[in-house]
Amino acid sequence: MHTTVYDLSREYDAGIDAAAKAIAGGKLVIFPTETVYGIGADASSASAVTKIFAAKGRPADNPLIVHIAKMTQVYEIAQDISPLAEKLMQAFWPGPFTVVLHSKGNLPHAISAGLTTVAVRMPSAKVAQDLILHSGCMIAAPSANKSGKPSGTGIMHVLQDFENEVPIILDGGDTQVGLESTVCDATGEVPVLLRPGAITAEMIQKVAGSVKISPAVQQALDENTPALSPGMKYMHYAPEAKVVVVKGEKPFLANAIKAMYDSSEKAGFTAEILCLFQSLLCYENRNAQSLGDTVEEEAHALFDALRKADAAKVDVVFFEAVEESGLGLAVMNRILRAAGFLVVDAMKEGDIDAYIAGLHR
Ligand code: TXA
Ligand code: MG
Repeated sequence: MHTTVYDLSREYDAGIDAAAKAIAGGKLVIFPTETVYGIGADASSASAVTKIFAAKGRPADNPLIVHIAKMTQVYEIAQDISPLAEKLMQAFWPGPFTVVLHSKGNLPHAISAGLTTVAVRMPSAKVAQDLILHSGCMIAAPSANKSGKPSGTGIMHVLQDFENEVPIILDGGDTQVGLESTVCDATGEVPVLLRPGAITAEMIQKVAGSVKISPAVQQALDENTPALSPGMKYMHYAPEAKVVVVKGEKPFLANAIKAMYDSSEKAGFTAEILCLFQSLLCYENRNAQSLGDTVEEEAHALFDALRKADAAKVDVVFFEAVEESGLGLAVMNRILRAAGFLVVDAMKEGDIDAYIAGLHR
């Protein structure tokens, strides 16, 4: 299949027009949102939605987010919407916020993957809004990446994963946030944060008065714990490289990373360090990459850095842990998944020794 790429900075109207026709005709379109790129289809068409799962290689039990552009659309697909849910939608839409609501059950089965709920988001990106409005469709769209790969945040990522597999790609440059939307279950009395994002737990708490953070956000789920959000149980955002998250106070952190980096290289592995700009100097002539000055910049750069590590055939990535608050909770949630929850505590010599001993096994 030939892919037509529209550069939105030069051919916005033509791109939206062609993409809207494709969506209305039951075809797939890749488009940018303020979070990550999405691979979208008409949410009312079972056959169109099936194509998304096929293109991504996505397990059938992982449900999709329905994207809308006007408030009336949420009432077409969700029911028993509580005052709490209304408050959250008012506060955070349009924006990087997905709310899980009771479904009316009138969408193709595959979207909710058998659940009685539906995840809905009103994106703020103009492209996404225009695509929804011009196509006349609500758009089901997961992140545009092959299942298990980091989400696509730039045109090169989506071309790498989907060139000649979808008819239309809208190139809107790099996405603003760089991490997927916050997913929040608002079917109960207290909102439950299922996936952290740019709308932070603190922001939800402020609006709702309280918030529960699903245990799956910060820990590995054991086999027997049912996942509230099916996406949580998959080893997501997985690069080819092994990722090691290293936490601890400043001087210990850098020293631990240096010791593990040097031992890895000595054992014949190609290593890389991902950190904030202010840490770069500590690593001297080692291969350390800055993800920016702030956690916002880090979120924006993270997925690209993981893809680049793979392209450079890096074997092991050491990631400096950040504080799990604000957007830092989302950054840590994604990197912990990429690491398969492998965390080394720089304050514990045993952890470092165990890592180094493991290199020779
Ligand atoms: O920023 C985003 O949310 C992007 C852009 C394209 O909008 N989309 C995205 O979709 O990240 P996806 O499919 O990669 O992630 C959707 C997440 C998954 O973890 C899924 O399990 C969860 O939302 N989800 C979807 N429907 C759900 C439901 N009814 N209940 C609980 N979780 C749900
Ligand atoms: Mg995804």
